[in-house]
Amino acid sequence: MKNHDIVEKNIGWMILFIIIAISFGGLVEIIPQFYTKANYTPLPGMKPLSAVELEGRDIYIREGCHVCHTQMVRPLRAEVERYGHYSMAQESVYEHPFLWGSKRTGPDLARVGGRYSDEWQRAHLYNPRSVVPESIMPAYPWLFDNVVTGEYAARKMEALRLVGVPYTDEDIANASKPFAGGKVKEIDALVAYLQQLGTLVTQKR
Ligand code: HEC
Repeated sequence: MKNHDIVEKNIGWMILFIIIAISFGGLVEIIPQFYTKANYTPLPGMKPLSAVELEGRDIYIREGCHVCHTQMVRPLRAEVERYGHYSMAQESVYEHPFLWGSKRTGPDLARVGGRYSDEWQRAHLYNPRSVVPESIMPAYPWLFDNVVTGEYAARKMEALRLVGVPYTDEDIANASKPFAGGKVKEIDALVAYLQQLGTLVTQKR
């Protein structure tokens, strides 16, 4: 009883013990995650993004899509019914940086791949109001003009390989091929990226 009085009446001790208690609680929750193999083993059949999808991902980041859209379906019934199977750690093992996001001005996109046709995605990005009249999403018409050179595609893959994404030498050697002749526009790359999101987990939405 007496010892407890000391802590309760001395804010310095109180702060110190609170910090110790919270750190301990945090470590107990966080450290085991690093040793849980299932968290960092890729799902069977999981492939790294193709060169075009990878460029699309960078356009997604450049345009700030992640500021309005999360890519993280939480394991809650309402979320799973709306978006599909909840997101799993293994699905993100090749993500550097991850794009889970934290703010949903628009819907979650973790499983948007294949939900709409390519034509819908293109029309929506050119002018969201053309397909969703009440939409407040910005329009991205310049994606239809800008060409993706793929100049850095190989170097991006090399960098990702350094952090564990299993790109082969062949992938890297061929990285810039799809962009030859300037035929890949930014919209093509972005739609390719969107159409593969979350498609590895095929449970019914
Ligand atoms: C200012 C916030 C904002 C930004 C930035 C934004 N969006 Fe959206 N997005 C929305 C809103 C709101 C909706 C829902 C209305 C609609 O479908 O247009 C939406 C809907 C979508 C949908 C349809 C999702 C579904 O399940 O129906 C896709 C796909 C999408 N956005 C992709 C993108 C991409 C790609 C970018 C970046 C190029 C982007 N968004 C940038 C707000 C935003």
